[in-house]
Amino acid sequence: MDGYEPDESRLDWRNVDSDPATAGRYLDLVANLIDEIRARATSRLGLEPGGSVLEVGCGNGLEAERLAALVGSAGRVVATDLSGEMILQAQARTRSLGLPIRFEVADAQALPYRDGEFDAARVERMLQHVPDPALVVRELIRVVRPGGRVCAFEPDWETMVLATGGDNEVQRALRRHKVDIRTAHGGIGRELPHLFVTAGCQDISVEPIAHSVRDLALADSILGLSASLEGAVAEGWVSEEAARVWWDQTQARSAAGGFFASMIGVIVAGRVP
Ligand SMILES: C[S@@+](CC[C@H](N)C(=O)[O-])C[C@H]1O[C@@H](n2cnc3c(N)ncnc32)[C@H](O)[C@@H]1O
Repeated sequence: MDGYEPDESRLDWRNVDSDPATAGRYLDLVANLIDEIRARATSRLGLEPGGSVLEVGCGNGLEAERLAALVGSAGRVVATDLSGEMILQAQARTRSLGLPIRFEVADAQALPYRDGEFDAARVERMLQHVPDPALVVRELIRVVRPGGRVCAFEPDWETMVLATGGDNEVQRALRRHKVDIRTAHGGIGRELPHLFVTAGCQDISVEPIAHSVRDLALADSILGLSASLEGAVAEGWVSEEAARVWWDQTQARSAAGGFFASMIGVIVAGRVP
């Protein structure tokens, strides 16, 4: 099947080091597509020049560059990821820029930082993959000072809509594969407010934002559609024939300009008591 490189379906986000080159290209592609939403999430941190901020699950470090621009040369950005390869990519890209960023390998579920060490902390599109997202949110709150701010931006795969002529059995099976098998916590977006409340965060804001793409090959690349379709067939949820007919119809819709794929991502931010 034709598609944009890189293909999301090849990636294991719990072990990015197995294919770091594809992961890096994928993160670049998506960062470019949703730059405005990422910037909006970061704006919820209320960063000022001279501030200190932690990003966990930073991937190849693109958003850390924005954080560095906001806190300026007197500020401090620490950006962490479980993947040593992602951290190497981030360091390589930013080395010559002279930014106040330190990239470090760390598990967001057990952060190696002191209580209240940062003014703010951020996570994006990582809680969906981590074994214990509630623990990560508690860790973010722990390392931010009282009055500081924490923000999370995560997708809700349950809200994925494919404009293919009805929410039929094949589309539901594809979505089920994304939610139940491909992602550890496919419905994490809608869980964020609850996670923030139970972790003790205050003054919580909730912004669900829909994003869409109209090209099937691009949607396949960033959402891993064909891989989840194959997965749904392998699980026995739909027949190979039904999946093939559905995919052919979807391709025809896309070629005629009548296709879109959309999903809601949720930005939740709050203040540390
Ligand atoms: C989909 S990527 C998102 C990267 C980045 N936040 C962005 O928006 O471009 C998920 C990232 O979370 C990282 N990750 C997965 N589990 C982690 C953990 N337990 N602690 C820290 N990072 C983790 C992966 O290595 C990967 O870089």
